[in-house]
Amino acid sequence: MVTGPTSEHDRAVHWSSVYERSRPDAVSWYQREPTVSLELVESLGLEPGTAVVDVGGGASPLLRALLERGFADITVLDIVEAALELSRSAVGDDPRAHWMVGDVLTWDPPRRYGLWHDRAVLHFFTGEEVLAYRRVLDAALSPGGTVILATFAPDGPEQCSGLPVTRYGAEELTKMLGDDFELVAEREEDHSTPGGALQRFTWVAARRSGGAPTA
Ligand SMILES: C[S@@+](CC[C@H](N)C(=O)[O-])C[C@H]1O[C@@H](n2cnc3c(N)ncnc32)[C@H](O)[C@@H]1O
Repeated sequence: MVTGPTSEHDRAVHWSSVYERSRPDAVSWYQREPTVSLELVESLGLEPGTAVVDVGGGASPLLRALLERGFADITVLDIVEAALELSRSAVGDDPRAHWMVGDVLTWDPPRRYGLWHDRAVLHFFTGEEVLAYRRVLDAALSPGGTVILATFAPDGPEQCSGLPVTRYGAEELTKMLGDDFELVAEREEDHSTPGGALQRFTWVAARRSGGAPTA
């Protein structure tokens, strides 16, 4: 049975080696445009003033795309510094972009955000790790804030980057978020990997109760 890394150190070592082995546009999760993320951001009417955190954002093109759309406060959190260097080199030293090296399971968010975005990170966690993820999300997200989550779907792959994943449908993701959250949108996506495989993803957007976002 394949098991995932169980400590912050091992998670960092694992993901660093993934970035060392592959070119950024050759990793299975690579996408030229963050199409579904942008579609959800637009359909939810998120204002460019919304503070965004992209957890496990790595070298994702979402940062550049949101900057192009006028978003003025975007933080990319990732456990691999080299991934954040790729992100930084893609947009340059833009004062609207912030990069933080950290493990989302132990992260102490310095402030609150109006949008928590996670594409293909949560599904690597199991058991206690999911509880830790939820605690960090709770601390980081503003009252009334929005989450956008994408994981492998129930008929998606069972592994990614050499690690087992937990596959979710929209209902399971919403249940994982708990009663404080209301589902506002859901999507299914067939992601084409650079190697030509298709990976089915589940996407949800959910809003936390508590009034207008303040971040
Ligand atoms: C499958 S990739 C997805 C990257 C990005 N979200 C995207 O859609 O292009 C997973 C990313 O999460 C990062 N990561 C994995 N475990 C993490 C953790 N515990 N805390 C923060 N980042 C993590 C990896 O370094 C990698 O950049």
